[in-house]
Amino acid sequence: MALIGSLPATSADFRERARRRLPRFLFDYVDGGAGEERTLAANAADWAALRLRQRVLVDVGGVATSATMAGENPQMPLGLAPLGLGGLLAQRGERQAVRAANAAGIPFTLSTVGICSLEEVAAAASAPFWFQLYWLRDRGIVEALLRRAWDAGCRTLVFTVDLPLPGMRHRDTRNGMVQPGLRARMLKLAQILSRPGWVARVALRGKPLLFGNLHEYVPAARDLDGFRAFIEAQFDPTVTWADLDWLRARWQGRVLIKGILDVEDARAAVRAGADGIVVSNHGGRQLEGAASSASRLPGIVDAVGAKTEVMVDGGLRSGIDLFRAIALGARGALIGRPWAWALAGGGEAGLRQLLATWQQELRTTMALAGVTRIDDIGRHHLVSCPASGLLKSRSGCVVEARREEEA
Ligand SMILES: Cc1cc2nc3c(=O)[nH]c(=O)nc-3n(C[C@H](O)[C@H](O)[C@H](O)COP(=O)(O)O)c2cc1C
Repeated sequence: MALIGSLPATSADFRERARRRLPRFLFDYVDGGAGEERTLAANAADWAALRLRQRVLVDVGGVATSATMAGENPQMPLGLAPLGLGGLLAQRGERQAVRAANAAGIPFTLSTVGICSLEEVAAAASAPFWFQLYWLRDRGIVEALLRRAWDAGCRTLVFTVDLPLPGMRHRDTRNGMVQPGLRARMLKLAQILSRPGWVARVALRGKPLLFGNLHEYVPAARDLDGFRAFIEAQFDPTVTWADLDWLRARWQGRVLIKGILDVEDARAAVRAGADGIVVSNHGGRQLEGAASSASRLPGIVDAVGAKTEVMVDGGLRSGIDLFRAIALGARGALIGRPWAWALAGGGEAGLRQLLATWQQELRTTMALAGVTRIDDIGRHHLVSCPASGLLKSRSGCVVEARREEEA
């Protein structure tokens, strides 16, 4: 569909705009996943397969989307997930994103490998934001990051545990995104030059394009080549649950463990004292062949939901999916690509618009499902998930699967 003459309304519309604005390697870095991208596809498909119960003649005059999540009271149970390199999507991207999140009354999470630093985001923010930690071999750097995050006003730490090493993302290879050498450089350069608007807005006016949180410790991490080498040298694949004590001793705020997809790991996170977990497969970017987060959520909620807050991310594309996530038992959800697309496609205004749309979609869905408060949304709002195979129940239906477990 020609975009001239139409306004963006959905995540998909912003995705199309992002495609036109970003150099190909950047668009594909955001859009793509690991391997054949089957887990990436399953994430979105499994939410979409959940059918909702329509209810009528219920007083829905006072629908409220406000929620309680990680000790905060966001305007809806949604947060912006951490995205590495977010500052390449728009001019000083994370600065624009935190302002849009503040305007929508929801939390923003800054990635360890963001472009804007903790201090720069704090200066732009009007409310506390969350900081996402990747565990680095040099614990001195981890300690320094935790200190800086605290000083920047962060009180929630999102500790990502599903990236002991980066997944195999073939689009990045094809585009020369992470390859060293002249050929890859020329390929990237050609892609950059085909997007003069991005060059002017981001590459020139958005300088410096450094890894804001890390460059003082790793001067070589100034460009993508140096960054890849840094990840390979510094991301610590030897971290285990035993290391959580070390972290807890150095962080007085909340710890959310992100990247849980297995009931056993969820239980381990509770034992390790997590204040919450994020059921996630990193947006299908890590273990190709892993189950969708929607399909794993109910079992994890049933196992640990009474002991810790369970959030979810991966594949949510609308406020209706957000309703579905809450119906399956999540306290809240995070989104990655939708915010990346809106920011790249429409800047801060685009992201504000998208978040307002999600809230309105959630409100509308609640009203048409006959429920006025977030806390009252539950599995009874789902009819079934035909043909999706979710939860492998005999009927293929989430609700039925739960009844079987209860029986
Ligand atoms: C471009 C991109 C960069 C990401 N970078 C990070 C990161 O730095 N830290 C992290 O914990 N997760 C990262 N993620 C994963 C997201 O936080 C989130 O789990 C995922 O995007 C959710 O799936 P969705 O994109 O389908 O909403 C990244 C995801 C994308 C798409």
